[in-house]
Order: sequence, then structure tokens, then C-alpha cells
Amino acid sequence: MTDDAQDFWEQFYGERDQVWSGKPNVVLVEEIEGVEPSTALDLGCGEGADAIWLAGQGWRVTGADISRAALERAAAHAEEAGVAERITWARHDFARSMTNGPFGLVSAHFLHSPVDDARDPALRAAAAAVASGGILLVVSHEAVPWHPEVEFPTAHEVLDSLGIDPVEWDVEQLASRPRRAKTPDGVEVEVSDSVVRLQRH
Ligand SMILES: C[S@@+](CC[C@H](N)C(=O)[O-])C[C@H]1O[C@@H](n2cnc3c(N)ncnc32)[C@H](O)[C@@H]1O
Repeated sequence: MTDDAQDFWEQFYGERDQVWSGKPNVVLVEEIEGVEPSTALDLGCGEGADAIWLAGQGWRVTGADISRAALERAAAHAEEAGVAERITWARHDFARSMTNGPFGLVSAHFLHSPVDDARDPALRAAAAAVASGGILLVVSHEAVPWHPEVEFPTAHEVLDSLGIDPVEWDVEQLASRPRRAKTPDGVEVEVSDSVVRLQRH
């Protein structure tokens, strides 16, 4: 583990009992509801809401994250939701290691970090972990009003960073999607997410 990244994320989750809403990400539900379930990998699963929703839809899920605190919390939520037996929690620093595929779905939502640059290698490894016929769904921040200094990638830039062979994949979504969100001070504003959904031949 890179100490900076590990320390940052343990402190991030340690500051509060619950950081995220506990609800699955909207784009995940919109894009994946109704897809025939198989195996799924949630990269940077945090407190587990996406992995738990997928398990509830019938997927057999691996949730991977650098933070021990987040994974412990995710496992407790999965027990409460009655889906624990369908989920494996795996601790990885994506700068160093990654869960091996193949998976029918690899999902990465908001895999951003201010302390290391594991994102692009992690997303390339994620693409490599998608099974033939499987889906890669990458949802990222694109514009966040309370972080005007941070330049987040567009959907096209995310696609470029994956370094995939276009012959092997169909691009099913390459979009910018607005969403209402609350600033850290609780003010409701519009943010924008980039959505990249690919299917492997
Ligand atoms: C912004 S949060 C998003 C969490 C969740 N996907 C969601 O949408 O609510 C980013 C997550 O990526 C994880 N993460 C950041 N850098 C990582 C790394 N190098 N290896 C593994 N996980 C990492 C963090 O611990 C955190 O849970």
C-alpha cells in the first residue's frame, strides 16, 4: 500500500460514521437495472452501496477498495441487507494490485483521489478484467462547483485514458450528465458527471 493514499482514505472514512448516502449511484441503476446478472467488480466501492444494490439484483459481486474502514462498514451494511453471501470484499491499493477478472460487469464510480495517481492504471486494468460480452461502466466527476480548481476529465478523455482497442469494444454511452448535489455546506447545486459505458465483443 502507498502510505499516503492508505492514510488519507482511512482518515477520510474515520472522520464520520457514514460518509456516503447509502444509496446506489443513480447512473449505475439507470444503466444496469435489467441487465442479466453474472459477476461484477465495483472498483473503489467505498461503503458498499453500489455493490449491495448489484447483489440485490442477482449479481455475484467483488467490492474492492483501499480503505479497511470503508470495507468493514460495507460488509456490515451487506449483512443488514441480507446479501452478504453474494459479495466478496477485497482490499487493494490499485497502484499496486487489482482483483483478477473476468467479470461480466466492471463498474467504477467516482474513482478519484487527491493523493495518488492510481486512477488511469486502475481503469486500464478494469477494462482488461471485463469478460467477453461484458460491460465496463465508468462514471466520473466532470464539473464540481465547489472544486473549481480541479480539472476533471470529459467522457472522451476518460475513454482515451482506457487505452482500449476500438475493434474489441462497442461504445454504448459517452455522455455528460447533469445531477443535483449538495455542496459540503449543504447547498443544493448542479454538478456534471461523465459517463462511459462500453461493451466488449
Ligand atoms: C470518491 S470515493 C467513491 C466511492 C464510491 N464508489 C461511491 O461512488 O460512493 C473514491 C473511493 O476510491 C477509493 N480509492 C481511492 N484511491 C484508491 C486506490 N489507490 N486503491 C483502491 N481504492 C482507492 C477510496 O477509498 C474511496 O472509497
